[in-house]
Amino acid sequence: MIFGKIIDDQMKGMLLSRKGKVTTYLPIDIGHEYFDFLGITVKAEKGDEPTEEEKGDEVLKENDASETSSTWTRKTLTVEEITAQATLFFVAGYDTTSNTLCFLVYHLVLCPEICDNLLQEIDDKLNGQAPNYDNVAKLSYMEMCIHETMRLFPAASRLDRVANNDVTIGNIRIPKGMTINIPVGAIQMDPEYWPEPEKFDPERFTPEAKAYRDPFVFMPFGAGPRNCVGMRLALLELKIAIVRILQNYRPVTSPKTKRHITFIISDSDQRFIPLGLYLKFEKRT
Ligand code: HEM
Repeated sequence: MIFGKIIDDQMKGMLLSRKGKVTTYLPIDIGHEYFDFLGITVKAEKGDEPTEEEKGDEVLKENDASETSSTWTRKTLTVEEITAQATLFFVAGYDTTSNTLCFLVYHLVLCPEICDNLLQEIDDKLNGQAPNYDNVAKLSYMEMCIHETMRLFPAASRLDRVANNDVTIGNIRIPKGMTINIPVGAIQMDPEYWPEPEKFDPERFTPEAKAYRDPFVFMPFGAGPRNCVGMRLALLELKIAIVRILQNYRPVTSPKTKRHITFIISDSDQRFIPLGLYLKFEKRT
C-alpha cells in the first residue's frame, strides 16, 4: 500500500512537472516536449481538436464522453488515469523482465551445453559488437532460450477475461459478465503439447516446431487486443541485457546453486517470483 502510494505520488509529481505546474521533478527548463509515453499521455489529457476523419469515427462516438459536441465525442484522460497508466507501466514492465532474466541465466548455469550454444551464437553473429536494436534481431537461438524460459516461468501464470456479451463456444455457453480464467501456466506445462514439460529445451521453439503447434498453447504475453503492450520492448531489453552479460561473463554454479529452481507464485497477480537463485559469474577471456 505504502509502496503504491509512493510510486503514485512520484508519477503525479513527474506529470505535473511536465505540464509546468511544479518544478520539483524537473528543476531545469528542458525547453521542448519529450516524445515518450508520459509526454503522449500528457497530450491526451487535454485532447487536440478532432480531425475530420475522427469526427466521423463511430468507435470514438461510442467511447465514454469527456468532451462532446452535437456531432462527435472524444475520450481524454484525467490526471488520475494518466498516473494509473504510468504506474501500470512501471509495475508491469520491471519485475516481469527482471524475473525472466533471472530464470534464464539460472537455466544457463543448469544447462552448460545450452549456455555454450548461446555464447557461440553471440560471438559468431555479433563479433564483439555492442548489442543494439538491429544486431540483436539476428540472435534466433537467444530468442528460443527466452521463449523456453517464459514457457516454464510465465510472468502471469493465469489470465482473466470478463465476457462483454453472452457467447457460445462449441457447446459451452458463457453468460455476459462471467469471468473466465485462462491457466497459461498449466497450458504451457501440458505434456500433450510439450513432451517432458519440465525439461528446459529451447529446441521447442525452432520455426519448424512452432509451425506444428497451436499458437494458443504459448501465451507468455497474453493474446488478443489486450495482450502485453510492452512485449517488443521487453524482448529487446532482455536480449541487450543478456548480450552485455555474456560477452563478458559466463554464469556458472556456486556452492549454493541448487539443481531445482525455487520460486513462489504471488497471490495477487499469479506471478512467478524467483527465490534464492544463487550462481557465480566467471570472467570470459
Ligand atoms: C518479460 C516481460 C513481460 C512479460 C512476460 C509480460 C507479460 C504480460 C502479460 C501476460 C500481460 C497480460 C496480457 C493479457 O491479458 O492478454 C501483460 C499486460 C501488460 N503489459 Fe506486459 N509483460 C512484460 C513486460 C512489459 C513491459 C516492459 C511493459 C511496459 C513497459 C509492459 C506493459 C504491460 C501493460 C501496460 C499491460 C496491460 C495491457 C492492457 O491491459 O491492455 N509489459 N504483460
